[in-house]
Amino acid sequence: MDDFRRKIENIVRQVVTETLASGQPPDLRSSGDYSVRRMMLAANWKMNGSVDFVRNYAMDLTVVGHDVEVVLCPPAVLLPVLAQSLAVGQQVELGVQDLHYESDGAYTGEHSASMLRDAGAIYAIVGHSERRSMFGESDDVVRKKLMAAIVNDLRPILCVGESDEERASGSTFRVLRAQLTAALGELASPLPDPGNVVVAYEPLWAIGTGQTATAQQAQEAMSFIRDRIGEMFSWSFAQAVRILYGGSANPDNAFELASMEDVDGFLVGGAGLDPKKFMSMIDSVSHAAKEGVVRAG
Ligand code: 13P
Repeated sequence: MDDFRRKIENIVRQVVTETLASGQPPDLRSSGDYSVRRMMLAANWKMNGSVDFVRNYAMDLTVVGHDVEVVLCPPAVLLPVLAQSLAVGQQVELGVQDLHYESDGAYTGEHSASMLRDAGAIYAIVGHSERRSMFGESDDVVRKKLMAAIVNDLRPILCVGESDEERASGSTFRVLRAQLTAALGELASPLPDPGNVVVAYEPLWAIGTGQTATAQQAQEAMSFIRDRIGEMFSWSFAQAVRILYGGSANPDNAFELASMEDVDGFLVGGAGLDPKKFMSMIDSVSHAAKEGVVRAG
């Protein structure tokens, strides 16, 4: 009930703010309608794969005629071979798992946004928890990477999520708020097309553990993320941003999770390495989108 009340209060506040700012109310016909957001399934291969793996994966994958946007994020060095191996007509976009925020220079081992675009990337994962925890990526670095992606026409998939201890101590919303504020705080007008900004809610305790967030836990956190984006920018902007769930998502839980109102698809690790599982998840996401099931407060 508290969640419902918070949501209604937020909507009223946003409508008033937008009406005062622009002199007219926002277009309410489409903005509460999840169907304006195209569902998405993105695979983060992490540091897995090889040239042979890519060729076999591309042969086994069939993504044609789907209403779901499908993205594969292999290690950057495998992007060109993946792009070449995908059969003509496969409706798959490519992405990368990281980028450097500078455009060029003495940054040994790094890739700039424009290089990654040249190599075929459309999307870039930014601020994955493994980069934050293993490679010391601060909120400030995440913000710079997100801005570099946007400036260079790469669509960011910004990862946020709380640890086990943070959830246990009741700090989940505080952590999500801080991460969103830090990463998105510099976005200013003209704002990017909200359809090109993706946020992935990846609770750390669910990544690679086999322990998935329940549909209710995911919905609660993801509705909070959408509300926070609404507070920072506008309600209509937030309604068009896609929010993905990540953390042990698989063919068995995809339909239930994707049926939740604020779950617009998945950023998937392990299951994304198996084309059969991945295709089964595409079907589940597509099915959930068509049924428009729970998708209500
Ligand atoms: P798993 O799906 O393997 O839990 O990984 C999630 C993830 O980190 C995607 O970025």
